[in-house]
Amino acid sequence: MPAEHSLFIPIILGTTRQGRESEHVAHLVFEQAKKRAGVDVELVDVRELPMRLDDAGEQMKDPKFSATIERCDGLVIVTPEYNHGYPGLLKHALDMNLKEYIHKAVGICGVSAGAVGGARVIENLLPVLRELGLVTIFEDVNFGKVGTLFDERGRLLDENYVRRVDKFLDELIWMARVLRHGRENIAPV
Ligand SMILES: Cc1cc2nc3c(=O)[nH]c(=O)nc-3n(C[C@H](O)[C@H](O)[C@H](O)COP(=O)(O)O)c2cc1C
Repeated sequence: MPAEHSLFIPIILGTTRQGRESEHVAHLVFEQAKKRAGVDVELVDVRELPMRLDDAGEQMKDPKFSATIERCDGLVIVTPEYNHGYPGLLKHALDMNLKEYIHKAVGICGVSAGAVGGARVIENLLPVLRELGLVTIFEDVNFGKVGTLFDERGRLLDENYVRRVDKFLDELIWMARVLRHGRENIAPV
């Protein structure tokens, strides 16, 4: 059998907030994903995307971000919960692409100061991802009381999250592989 080329799974850090705790989560997921054989990863920081505030959607497509999504087989979205919703700038960024997402896998890591680990933002983000053509997995990781999970240098204090992130990545990688097989081998009806 020919060797399969690597899966490409970018991790989107979904908040621009000063002092964001979600950055620690994104780095943790990035480091765990990087350890997987046959998986290439990249961190996409919403802060770094050239986004206009006087426009929306594909009209303000950024060629680099668009190429990253076009190339990807799956996505991880790390999102904090802001008033039970997702950060406006995460949505603004996701809306910059459209066809690039179709039939690619996506998983969400929710981050919150509250105990439920972004459970409400995850529920709110799911219909958006579906409309973009992404295929959501049924594993999430909930980083509740995130202020207690990392030290000031961003080192993880609760090793249980390594296992949770790995289980999440197992499912995401499987779905990404299945969907790539479908995109490459099964013609749309
Ligand atoms: C505008 C705003 C709204 C927030 N709303 C919630 C919320 O609904 N539930 C919650 O648990 N935490 C809420 N938080 C706290 C965040 O969950 C907290 O900042 C956490 O550290 C994750 O976000 P971060 O990446 O911005 O640090 C809110 C924070 C901000 C800035």
